[in-house]
Amino acid sequence: MSDFRSDTVTRPTPAMREAMARAEVGDDVLDGDPTVRRLEEAAAEWLGKERALFVPSGTMANQVAVGAWTRPGDELIAQRWAHVVTFEAGAAGYLHGVQATTLGDRSGHLDPAQVKDAIRPDFLHCPRTALLTLEQTHNAAGGVVLPMEEVAGVAAIAREHGIPVHLDGARLANAVVASGIPAQRWAEQADSVSLCFSKGLGAPVGSVIAGDGEFIERGVLVRKRLGGWMRQAGHLAAAALLALEEGVERLAEDHALARSIAERLGVLPGLAADPAAVETNIVMVSVETPDHDAASLAQALGERGVRVMPMGERVLRFVTHRDVGPADVDRLEEAARATLGVG
Ligand SMILES: Cc1ncc(COP(=O)(O)O)c(C=O)c1O
Repeated sequence: MSDFRSDTVTRPTPAMREAMARAEVGDDVLDGDPTVRRLEEAAAEWLGKERALFVPSGTMANQVAVGAWTRPGDELIAQRWAHVVTFEAGAAGYLHGVQATTLGDRSGHLDPAQVKDAIRPDFLHCPRTALLTLEQTHNAAGGVVLPMEEVAGVAAIAREHGIPVHLDGARLANAVVASGIPAQRWAEQADSVSLCFSKGLGAPVGSVIAGDGEFIERGVLVRKRLGGWMRQAGHLAAAALLALEEGVERLAEDHALARSIAERLGVLPGLAADPAAVETNIVMVSVETPDHDAASLAQALGERGVRVMPMGERVLRFVTHRDVGPADVDRLEEAARATLGVG
């Protein structure tokens, strides 16, 4: 199968398996695990933050941030389609008693004037606006990179109002490669930042949440309450370390492959995709043929050996990663042509 459903589907490389097997480990709760510590230090340095904390998932990284920055009854501001409010099953409310106000549209962008307007006044009847969350790259918007002026602009508004900023950097490495702007410069716009090793970077498990020492102290407690403490997690951290050391530059190949998908599918009758809109490793393809919706087309492609995820009724999302290459895109185009009856 050629699997374009997500960049999370990669299997560990032989080098990762070797590093995992050989990792020096300890009980990360009792005494600290030396390999986890190395990963946390390397990630903190890469992100330009004082400390980083290893957590099992990107969702937990975001929820540690929400828990560490807020109190029950508070409100956070997020982009309408951000992962933290769209794909975390209501965790901010369920776990932390925090409600969200959401802004913007499918493009993934945030308008500074709207952010300013959404900040609650200091008034007994209102929730406290306690957090602004940003997402880079923006998954549901098709992996777009929010421009630095936009990120800096909205972060400045939050800062003027004393509101901390959390950057969901699950795919920050893709933004770094696409923009040429180092991770530290993106991260310095935020008070906390997450990074996933299990997406384009290709590790099997794990994320970090990074920030200053005080934030991390609170984050350790939230992670404990979420059950995110892990014991000999060095076996996982060893793969994540390799992902950070060796996975970043390779992302450029995923971005080029993604663009080629838009170029090759976008010209087929019944499909629409804009190569110019593909900035990183995610391609959104509109299904415009009356013969199929996204779900039925995904099903038909699956029967021809190509797995892909519907994102809405008439949109398919393709994600490139280490375990797909040009031959998989050839197979995808053939499967699409055969399914649509195009010669
Ligand atoms: C932007 C973003 N944040 C967070 C997550 C959550 O990561 P995980 O699946 O590891 O919980 C994802 C997952 O796709 C994501 O795209």
